[in-house]
Amino acid sequence: MAAFVVSPLKMGPLLVLWLAVCLSGTWAVDRGNFKTCDQSAFCKRQRALKPGQSPYRALLETLELTNTKLTLQLINDNNKVRLLLELYRLQGNMTRVKINELKPLKPRFEVPDVLINDPPTEPLSLLSRDENGVVLSLGADSQRLIVSAKPFRLDIMEGREVLLSLNSRGLLAFEHLRIRKDTISYKIKTKVNSMWENIKWVFSSKVDPEGTENKEETEAANEPAEGEEVWGEKAKEDEKVEDGMWEETFKSHTDSKPNGPSSISLDFSLPGVENVYGIPEHADSLKLKATDGGDPYRLFNLDVFQYEVFNPMALYGAIPVMLSHSAQRTMGIFWLNAAETWVDISSNTAGKTVFGQMLDYVQGSSETPQTDVRWISESGIIDVFIMLGPTPADVFSQYASLTGTQAFPPLSTLAYHQCRWNYNDQEDVAAVDQGFDDHDIPYDFIWLDIEHTDGKRYFTWDHHKFPQPKDMLQGLLDKRRKMVTIVDPHIKVDSSYKIHNEIRSKGFYVKSKDGGDYEGWCWPGNSGYPDFTNPEMRAWWASMFAYDQYEGSMENMYTWNDMNEPSVFNGPEVTMHKDALHGNWENRDLHNLYGLYVQRATAEGLIERSGGVERPFVLARAFFAGSQRYGAVWTGDNAAEWDHLKISIPMCLSLGLVGVSFCGADVGGFFKSPSTELLVRWYQTGAYQPFFRAHAHLDTPRREPWLFGPENTALIREAVRQRYALLPYWYQLFYHAHHSGQPVMRPLWVEYPQDTATFSMDDQFLLGRDLLVHPVTEEGARGVTAYLPGKGEVWFDVHTFQKHNGAQNLYIPVTISSIPVFQRGGSIIPRKARVRRSSSCMEHDPYTLFVALSPKRFAQGELYIDDGHTFNFDKQKQFIHRRFSFANNALSSRNLAPGSQFTTFSWVEKIVILGASKPSKATLKTPDGKESLLEFEFDASMSVLTLRKPGVNAGLDWTVVLQ
Ligand code: NOJ
Repeated sequence: MAAFVVSPLKMGPLLVLWLAVCLSGTWAVDRGNFKTCDQSAFCKRQRALKPGQSPYRALLETLELTNTKLTLQLINDNNKVRLLLELYRLQGNMTRVKINELKPLKPRFEVPDVLINDPPTEPLSLLSRDENGVVLSLGADSQRLIVSAKPFRLDIMEGREVLLSLNSRGLLAFEHLRIRKDTISYKIKTKVNSMWENIKWVFSSKVDPEGTENKEETEAANEPAEGEEVWGEKAKEDEKVEDGMWEETFKSHTDSKPNGPSSISLDFSLPGVENVYGIPEHADSLKLKATDGGDPYRLFNLDVFQYEVFNPMALYGAIPVMLSHSAQRTMGIFWLNAAETWVDISSNTAGKTVFGQMLDYVQGSSETPQTDVRWISESGIIDVFIMLGPTPADVFSQYASLTGTQAFPPLSTLAYHQCRWNYNDQEDVAAVDQGFDDHDIPYDFIWLDIEHTDGKRYFTWDHHKFPQPKDMLQGLLDKRRKMVTIVDPHIKVDSSYKIHNEIRSKGFYVKSKDGGDYEGWCWPGNSGYPDFTNPEMRAWWASMFAYDQYEGSMENMYTWNDMNEPSVFNGPEVTMHKDALHGNWENRDLHNLYGLYVQRATAEGLIERSGGVERPFVLARAFFAGSQRYGAVWTGDNAAEWDHLKISIPMCLSLGLVGVSFCGADVGGFFKSPSTELLVRWYQTGAYQPFFRAHAHLDTPRREPWLFGPENTALIREAVRQRYALLPYWYQLFYHAHHSGQPVMRPLWVEYPQDTATFSMDDQFLLGRDLLVHPVTEEGARGVTAYLPGKGEVWFDVHTFQKHNGAQNLYIPVTISSIPVFQRGGSIIPRKARVRRSSSCMEHDPYTLFVALSPKRFAQGELYIDDGHTFNFDKQKQFIHRRFSFANNALSSRNLAPGSQFTTFSWVEKIVILGASKPSKATLKTPDGKESLLEFEFDASMSVLTLRKPGVNAGLDWTVVLQ
C-alpha cells in the first residue's frame, strides 16, 4: 500500500484538520466556519421583520387575465416600489406564483434548466371581483384562489377550508435593486435624475393630471425616496456599509455586493397542518422542527467538515421543496430559487408536551394546529409552485411533472459498491477483488478515489500505481464487475495539464469579480472551477468522457463527482466567493445549481461515449431540485458513530420525498473507525437503503468485510446476499421511481396517510409499498420495537415467515444477525435465490416469488425485467413487465407490456405462499392449454406453501390453481 506522503503545508488547513481529527477522535463541526442567520446580512435583515400588516397592496386596476395567467401589480406603500405578480393554474392541481420587480434596474436571476418544460397551464376563471380583491376558480374540487388587495394576500381554498395562505403574516419582502447612495457617482446621478424626472413630470402631468404612475415607478426604480421604509422601520439616512447591504465580511472574506441588497421573502400558512418534511439536505429528523428558538433551516451547498447530526445547518445539497402532511391532505411547496436560502418554521403545537396535547384533547380545548413557514433567499425572484396533492402520491407526481423523475440506473448500480479513499494501486484492486471471491461475498463495483490520478489531475492515472488501467478494467469485466473513478470539478492550474489548458483557452473557467479566472484551493492545490452553467462548457466536458479522450477508460468504468458544491478550501465557508461570475450572473444567484450542472454534464458525457445507448451512473455530493435526473447522491462525510447510522434513515427519506430516490450513506462511516458491531449493523442497514456503498477515509484502518473474523464476515456476507436476492424488487421500484416519481424508500405515512402514529418515525421505513424495514441501529440492542401499520392488515417476517397483525407496536428480540424486515400481506415480491459474485452474473437466474396473502387471501405484485443497462427499455420499449395476482386460490401472471418483444432466459423456480392453507393439488396451466401438476410442501406450523419448479418462463402468461 503506497503511503500518502505530502507536507502539511501543501495540504491546506482543512486537510491538516482532517488528519488531526482522525487521529485524535474529537468530533464537532467548527461552527465558526459557517454562518448563522445572524451572520448572513440578508437573513438577519429579513428575520428582523416580524409578522404584522404587510405594506404590500394589490393594484386591482392593473389586473389582467388571459386564458393562461393572471397578472397584477403590487405596490409597497412604504417605498412605492412596484412588483409584478403572475399567477398560473398548472395542469395536475398546482398553482404557480411568480413575483418579480415590475421594473428592476437590471434583470433578476430566474432559475433555468430545472423545470423539464414550461409547465402546461389550465384556464383560470374569474368568479367575482370588487374593491377588496378577486376570486378565481381553480377548477378542481371547488378550489378557489382569493387575491385580497389591502393588505395583499393570497388564499387557496377548497370548499370552506383554507388550504394555504401566502403573505397572511405580512412577511412578503422584496429588496428592490437600487443604486448605491453613498457614492459620488450616485449623488451626481441622483441630481441629474431628479432634474430630469421633474421635467418629465411637468410634461406628463399635462397628459395624466395625477402624474402618479410614472412618478411612483421612476422614484421606485431609480431613486428610492429619502427615508424610505423598506423594512417596516425607518431606513437610515444613508445605507451604511456595515449593514451588509453593499459589502459583507465573514471571517477574512469580503463579499463585494455590486448589486446591493436583493433578497426576497414570503410566508406561507398551513392551517390544520402539524407536520412538514423535506427541504434536504440536513442531518436532522424526518419531521422538520420549529425554528423559533434557533436558526432557520439553511439551504446553501457547502462542504461541511465533520457535520453534526440533529441540526439545521446547511450541507452539501439543497432541494427547496417542502411537503406538508396531515391526516386529511398532503401538499408541497417548491421554492424555485438557487441562491442561499433560509427556511423558518413555526407551529402553534410545536413544543407542546404530550401531556399538554392530551389535556387539550380531554378539555376539548385544542386549537386548530397550524404551521407557518417563511422562505428567505438572497437574490433572484419569487417563483413558487404550490402542489395541492391531495395524496402523497399526487404530490410526488406533481413534483415529477415539474422537475422530472429519478434516472433509471443500470441494474448493477443497485448492487453493492466497495470504496475507500483509496485503493492504492492495481495490485490492491486485484487483491480486494479476489478477497470478495475468496470470502464468497458478491460485489459489483470497486471505486477509485482521488489518489488514483496523476497529482489530482482528473481524467488521468498515476501511471506508477495504475500502469495498465485497461488491463485492470478488463480483469473486472471478465468477472462481470465494474469500476467507478472520481472526477472532481476543480481543475489543477498547471500549464502542462491538457484539461486545464483547454478550459483556460476556451474561456470556460468561472471568473472572479475582477474578470480573471477564479482560482481557489482544493485537492490539487491551486485550482480553477469550470463554469458548468455554460452549455458549451458542459458539452466540452461531456466530450472528455469519450473513450479516446479519457485515456484508460472502458465501458465498465463510471464516474463519481465529489466536491461539487463547489468546495473551495480557502473560500468563504469553504466554497466559492459569491461575487465570482458565471457569465453575467454572480455565484450568489445560482450557487445551489452548480453541483447539478456538474453531474448533468458528466452524465451526458457517459451517455455520449456509448453513442446514446448506455445508461450512465454518476454519483454526486452536491445537488439541487432536478438532480434526480442525473444519478445518485450520498450523504457525504459522515462518521463511524451510531448517531450517524441512525440519521442515514431520515436523510435518505427526506431526499426521497423530493424526488431523489437514489440515496445512500457511507457504510461504516467515513471518518473514524467503526466498532465491529457498528460495521455489521451498518451493512445490515445499508443493504436496505437505495445506494449501498462502503466508504472510508484515507487514514482509517482497512475495513474490507473479511477483516473482522469469520463470524463478522459471515454476518456481512449475509447482509450483502440479502441485498442481491432482492435486486429484482429494487429494480422494479426504481423503474417506478423513473416512470412516475414515486419514492423508492418511503416514510410509513406515505402509504398510511391517516395513521398519525407514522408521522414522525426516524427508525423505520418502507421500500415501495410492500417491505417494511426496521434496521437495528442501537448499540448493544437486544430487541427493537417496530410499528406495523394498517388496521386489518397482516405483515410477514421475511426470515421466519411468522405472521403479525397491524396496526401494532411489535417488540422483536434481536441478535447480531437480525435485520427486521416484513412483507405486507397482499403483496408478491420476486427474489433471486442463487447469489453469485456480481449482479450481472445473476442475469439469467431463475426467480422465486414470495406471495404474502392478505387476510382475505389476496395478493398482487409485479416483475420488471430489461437488459439492465441500455435505454432500449425506453426508446424501443424492450422490457418485460408482469402483473402477478393471487385471488380465488389461483396465482396468475399477466402481461403489462403488450407489444414488447423483449425475452428472458429466466424462469420461475419456486413459489412460496405465506399465510396459505394446504391444497390437495396444485396445477400449472399455460395458454397453450397444457396442464401439469406441481410438487409442493406445506408447513402447517407457519402456514407456508412452497410450490416447486413451476419451470415456466418469467416472461410468459401462466396460472397456478390450488385445489
Ligand atoms: C470528500 C468526499 O466526501 C469523500 O467521500 C472523499 O473520499 C474525499 N473527498 C476524497 O476524495
